[in-house]
Amino acid sequence: MNPPTETSNKTTNPALSYHAWDRTVRIFHWLNVLCVTGLVGVGLVIFFNKNLGVSPDGKILLKTIHAYIGYVFVLNLSWRILWGFFGNTRSRWKTILPFGKAYKNSLAAYVRGLKNDDTPAYLGHNPLAKLMITVLFLLLITQATTGLVLAGTDLYLPPFGHEIAEWVTGSGEDHSQLKDLKPGSKDTVDPQGYEEMRAFRKPYIWVHQYSFYLLVIAILIHILGVVVTELREKNGLVSAMFTGNKVFTKRPTDLTDEDESG
Ligand code: HEM
Repeated sequence: MNPPTETSNKTTNPALSYHAWDRTVRIFHWLNVLCVTGLVGVGLVIFFNKNLGVSPDGKILLKTIHAYIGYVFVLNLSWRILWGFFGNTRSRWKTILPFGKAYKNSLAAYVRGLKNDDTPAYLGHNPLAKLMITVLFLLLITQATTGLVLAGTDLYLPPFGHEIAEWVTGSGEDHSQLKDLKPGSKDTVDPQGYEEMRAFRKPYIWVHQYSFYLLVIAILIHILGVVVTELREKNGLVSAMFTGNKVFTKRPTDLTDEDESG
């Protein structure tokens, strides 16, 4: 980790630059932005497929593209979840999640600061941002888990596709029937198994859809929060997600010895 460095500042105060986000967090963040943008974009076309005149084969292709972007998204998210247990201080769940008495006090102090236009500085997430990040992660995890089930029920893709294919064909361990099974076609399915699978799928598509609406709202609030905080506190929040460093004219309240010593 880099020690704090003095940088020039347009005001007369010298500004201190501290390292906030490690490389794993930054790569996760931008890869996640790319994947979620792709998933939302293709997801919307799937959602409006009838209005857009998409053919049945086109719909299967769109779902397949969506699922493959989804795999990259799930791997990236899984790596970030693991990193939260052994990464540096600021990437850890115990630093990020909004729990405990200390968190409550810091939230109260931050809200008071907002009213007086003098919020405490944070090298990591401020207390309101911790709430936002938790909501975002919960919605991302919901999309990831329901999406993996739908990749199985709609496309017979991993990780559950093989079992679902056995179910809808009624073939059990006789895999000879599976090779003719095509997503979107009922030609080789066992009608009862297929109907059971469609009933099983219903709550997953419902959650995938409503959690998508909530995720879009949460992403908009997140972007608004970043813009407002940057305009008020001027710590270089956006560039920090590229360089890792935030700039301060007052001492951040959450500094650790690790941050000071470098
Ligand atoms: C941030 C993550 C994600 C977002 C925002 C998202 C969004 C969407 C949206 C809007 C739809 C259309 C829903 C509908 O037609 O009612 C959809 C469908 C689908 N998603 Fe996702 N998705 C995400 C993650 C995933 C993942 C990780 C996978 C699997 C690897 C996945 C697999 C599917 C499949 C198979 C469908 C087709 C279901 C259908 O409409 O019949 N999704 N998704």
